[in-house]
Amino acid sequence: MTTETSPAQAAPTRVAAATATTETVPYAHTRLPDADRELLREVLYEVGTDPEQKFILGRRTAELERRLADRAGVRDVVACASGTGALVLALRAVGVVPGDEVIVPAFGAEPLAATVLGVGAVPVFADVDPVTMVMDPVDAESRVTERTRAVVPAHTFTTMADMPAIMAWARRRGIAVVEDAAVAQGATLGGRAAGTWGDIGLYSFFPVKPFGMPGEGAVVLSDNPELATLVRRLRNHGQDGVQRFVHHEVGLNSRFDEVLAGYQLARLDRAEDMIARRAAIAAHYNSRFAALRGSGLLAPTTGADGQCHYVYAVQTICRDSLAAHLAAHGIGSRVYYPVPLPRLSAFAAYAGEGADGRRPGTELASARHLALPLNLNLTDSQVERTADVVCAFFD
Ligand SMILES: Cc1ncc(COP(=O)(O)O)c(C=O)c1O
Repeated sequence: MTTETSPAQAAPTRVAAATATTETVPYAHTRLPDADRELLREVLYEVGTDPEQKFILGRRTAELERRLADRAGVRDVVACASGTGALVLALRAVGVVPGDEVIVPAFGAEPLAATVLGVGAVPVFADVDPVTMVMDPVDAESRVTERTRAVVPAHTFTTMADMPAIMAWARRRGIAVVEDAAVAQGATLGGRAAGTWGDIGLYSFFPVKPFGMPGEGAVVLSDNPELATLVRRLRNHGQDGVQRFVHHEVGLNSRFDEVLAGYQLARLDRAEDMIARRAAIAAHYNSRFAALRGSGLLAPTTGADGQCHYVYAVQTICRDSLAAHLAAHGIGSRVYYPVPLPRLSAFAAYAGEGADGRRPGTELASARHLALPLNLNLTDSQVERTADVVCAFFD
């Protein structure tokens, strides 16, 4: 056992064997570490008293964009107001127009489908693999029609979507790929950064995301200069950043805040450590749960390639009783998507009929997944206790 202090401060990149305790373990824990509170105060003061008095899309935002582009190995990064805004910008940039179809995973976050409807297009729901819970490339391809303009694979929980397979058929069929890496900043697949596989990609900085911050924000990534330039204009009401009040197209307000840009810049060099700590917690859970497969607990896939570390979700048919058992021992857990997107009343009109309406992988993922605590405020002993209580359930 190494420490009882918050790992967010020291960010140890392993989880040491810890003594069993009876402490409670909240599921979500977004408390800013003390050092980050101080940083926020300093950046706020610096931006507020800067003679330049530029609070939106200033030099800090531009530097954050450049540095993130370097780190991801991509030509351009454009900061915007949220992951949801980034999806809208990306869909618009790749040319999705009213009447088009866009293939999205049936198991995932609501903005995946809502943003498609928001740009006037029709979401087409593809099934997911029941084990990895990410888009099934074969099922997704089977839903392509002559109206399909784009596909939006999303990295989910701890697993990146099968980007090589999706890129292969999308390229062959001339379909644009919007890679939703909202939750996967820092992950790589085959040596290539998440968010850089598609024609265009995105990361969200929503507080609970791997490089989350105390506010709303996101970035769009692309190697295609035309797409990046278009996103840059669209995020600022269609203006080109040179001439004000000249609107090249109908855009929106999805701009980035200088205080948050300064805050993210100051923490950028710590991003790898933050992600490594999450990876260490996930690896520790995996090692503790490996023996439970025969008892009906499916842990996420292991290994670094294609792994992101946003949400650690196990799967079991006893999901609800496991959640109750954890709660009885003071341990929080969460079911993210209990109802598949096409069965939500918001999207039921687009669920599809007959064979298209069958998505067995999605139904299994919705019925079986349970997320365990995974955040930077967890101590080693809280991780160990969570693992102990899960193991005790299957004894
Ligand atoms: C896969 C995915 N895409 C997009 C979003 C939207 O991001 P934001 O909350 O920054 O708008 C989320 C949010 O949870 C998400 O999980």
